[in-house]
Amino acid sequence: MKVQQLIRPEILRVTPYRSAREEYRGKEAIWLDANENAYDIHQNGLNRYPDPLQWELKQRIAAWKGVSADQIFLGNGSDEAIDLLIRATCRPFRDEILITPPTYGMYQVLAEIQGVGVQRVVLNDRFQLDLPRILSAISFTTRLIFLCSPNNPTGNVLQREDVDTLLKNFPGLVVIDEAYIDFADDPGWLAGLNDHPNLVILQTFSKALGLAGARLGMAFAHREIIAVLNKIKFPYNVNELTLAAAHRALDQLPAMQRTLEYIREQRQWLYVRLKAHPDVVTVYPSQANFLLVRFRHAASILRHLLQRGIVVRDRSRLPQCEGCLRITVGTEEENRLLIQALNEWELVQ
Ligand SMILES: Cc1ncc(COP(=O)(O)O)c(C=O)c1O
Repeated sequence: MKVQQLIRPEILRVTPYRSAREEYRGKEAIWLDANENAYDIHQNGLNRYPDPLQWELKQRIAAWKGVSADQIFLGNGSDEAIDLLIRATCRPFRDEILITPPTYGMYQVLAEIQGVGVQRVVLNDRFQLDLPRILSAISFTTRLIFLCSPNNPTGNVLQREDVDTLLKNFPGLVVIDEAYIDFADDPGWLAGLNDHPNLVILQTFSKALGLAGARLGMAFAHREIIAVLNKIKFPYNVNELTLAAAHRALDQLPAMQRTLEYIREQRQWLYVRLKAHPDVVTVYPSQANFLLVRFRHAASILRHLLQRGIVVRDRSRLPQCEGCLRITVGTEEENRLLIQALNEWELVQ
């Protein structure tokens, strides 16, 4: 693969800001390079800038995921990776990304903010890729395809053969957003990373790993793509508190596995009860930690839940999602209260 062909020429020409710390990997040193306050007045180590390339954390993630550390980018949520991928590949007012609605909203928002066009090829009625329409929509200005599997808000995994066809036939980058992969039975695409130089996989610490408040996202890709993302990111994009929280999360992986089991059980518990509700048309099977539910009277249900202090996500205006609410699997108690509130709903015309 020629990275040159995937990346904007002006980005290739940028000389990045370099921190002196990128050149020094040791821990002990007299740090007189970054104009920090040398006195740790708050006694928390935060008087120093964090490691710009987060090497220690990347080594641990690399061992855990079976990739090499230079195939990993870490950012301020996966949203940062989405933003940088668009910046790296699309020239404003010339190039386009392709998305497959209904899907995660930030691909379109971040493209629009950057003056990048958005081609939208709606998923079919099984929420799978409409391959013929995608292949005919792709043009020489399509630089990036965003796929999401398990897909938000529909909860299903995209068929492997379809994704494989795109990886083999699309000359730009194919991004597979796997924010919810830990909740799925599907292994995802990490094992295919070395077979597809145009593949980028996004994962996050915000969902199964339980650190949404810390803001830490991961992108896995060919090392040359990762090098470009590192070149255009803010120098200290992941802060020290987040790095420490991520290390603690990696110490606690068995605990995470246990909560995954609970969440999957609770997903099934909710699925059965939602399906039995008189206003429910469909509960879509989910491989994520939420359920997409089609109601006959979604607006009335939404209002009723809000009156009970229960907030769910209205997805009814998205294509193929008329009457649909997206409901996150909560704790056992929260799920019980949700079902109780739904059972007390009465249609007020
Ligand atoms: C599919 C998908 N990708 C990415 C994100 C954002 O993740 P992060 O918190 O890592 O920015 C979300 C958040 O809801 C999501 O649903």
